[in-house]
Amino acid sequence: MAASTSSLLAAAASSSCTAISARLPRGAPAAASVPSPSRHSCPSLRASPARRHQSRFVASVAPTMQPPAESRVSTVVDVDLGDRRYPIYIGAGLLDEPDLLQRHVHGKRVLVVTNTNVAPLYLEKVTWALTHNNPNVSVESVILPDGEKYKDMDTLMKVFDKAIESRLDRRCTFVALGGGVIGDMCGYAAASFLRGVNFIQIPTTLMAQVDSSVGGKTGINHRLGKNLIGAFYQPQCVLIDTDTLNTLPDRELASGIAEVVKYGLIRDAPFFEWQEKNMSALLARDPSALAYAIKRSCENKAEVVAQDEKESGLRATLNLGHTFGHAIETGTGYGAWLHGEAVAAGTVMATDMSHRLGWIDESIKKRVIDILKYAKLPITPPDTMTVEKFKSIMAVDKKVADGLLRLILLKGPLGSCVFTGEYDRKALDETLHAFCKN
Ligand SMILES: NC(=O)c1ccc[n+]([C@@H]2O[C@H](COP(=O)([O-])OP(=O)(O)OC[C@H]3O[C@@H](n4cnc5c(N)ncnc54)[C@H](O)[C@@H]3O)[C@@H](O)[C@H]2O)c1
Repeated sequence: MAASTSSLLAAAASSSCTAISARLPRGAPAAASVPSPSRHSCPSLRASPARRHQSRFVASVAPTMQPPAESRVSTVVDVDLGDRRYPIYIGAGLLDEPDLLQRHVHGKRVLVVTNTNVAPLYLEKVTWALTHNNPNVSVESVILPDGEKYKDMDTLMKVFDKAIESRLDRRCTFVALGGGVIGDMCGYAAASFLRGVNFIQIPTTLMAQVDSSVGGKTGINHRLGKNLIGAFYQPQCVLIDTDTLNTLPDRELASGIAEVVKYGLIRDAPFFEWQEKNMSALLARDPSALAYAIKRSCENKAEVVAQDEKESGLRATLNLGHTFGHAIETGTGYGAWLHGEAVAAGTVMATDMSHRLGWIDESIKKRVIDILKYAKLPITPPDTMTVEKFKSIMAVDKKVADGLLRLILLKGPLGSCVFTGEYDRKALDETLHAFCKN
């Protein structure tokens, strides 16, 4: 039974890739610095108005709100969740376009949630964008301490303190301005304040732009495990101003690339092949390469979320490498390893296990290691992670059901995976012993 579910998931994953490619427009000119991949073309970052919205990913009948004709939005990806559908706007300089944000603000009160690192860089700009020619709106802000170790209940309370002291009501809008930590916490605060208020994501790290701001997973960590407390809560829109990446440190950029690699491995082989050819452009922050990687990642995530919002199956495949990775983050103390770094090492471990099970060729394992190494990401866990430590932390992972740990493993050709509890336990033991010193 479980085996057939796994095969179904693999089939759904690969068939949905085909569906995406069928809907994407063909023949859009490739940017000069980035060779066009075989299946998806790479649009220029600043598209001309005439072809600006050609790459829009259309998933259903009701139209998503379009940006104004003169907008710098180069791509709109639709997250098709019926009456809770929302757009992901992608482009350079989008924070200079007040209308894009203002059209998604409900009510007259806004609370911007950000941190001590991002506030000096972008809070003023975002406040301007929210209030420009819009005297009816007033903006409050709460500036949280920076870092994964503050993704906890105490810090979350500071958001509620500010909201209650400011007498915000049900018509207010919360705006997350920052990376995945801020997005997850602000989203969870929005989900629970007065049992749910409007919420906008302005992701400013690559990790948040390609993954965490999309799909409505919100929450905080518990000292015993990552992201164990949270809610599914979708934003009104996601606004990705790719210019914000200009201030992002290299290590954080690489961390986001781990999730970009994931999409290729689990469901989009042509995207993985494009990454193999364009990793140096991504690391050098070539704007066209980054814009394409963000667009393609958001399209993949939107497609999965539209099919399985609450993670009853297919969505779990987005967690390739995360069970091992979350164990590393919890085991080393939140923040010591960046999320993407832990996911990278975890992806290599999951790939190793898939290979031990005979589910993938040696060549795929090598390509995974090569691309992550090239991106300067770790490919082994830290020495402090023992086999026992992995096992005890993985035992409280969210993907444990009825005492059985289910894992996302690669199976079949590049771009295919399964979410399954049906694997030989010996392979898991062998992988843990191969990567841990004791
Ligand atoms: N909800 C989801 O679906 C999902 C998916 C993936 C990851 N996550 C979560 O996201 C978190 C990791 O996100 P992250 O990697 O963005 O980490 P982060 O939010 O801690 O941001 C990384 C660092 O970059 C700084 N920063 C942010 N934007 C910047 C900018 N433009 N310029 C300079 N510095 C900037 C931050 O202040 C921080 O120091 C983890 O908690 C992870 O669990 C959630």
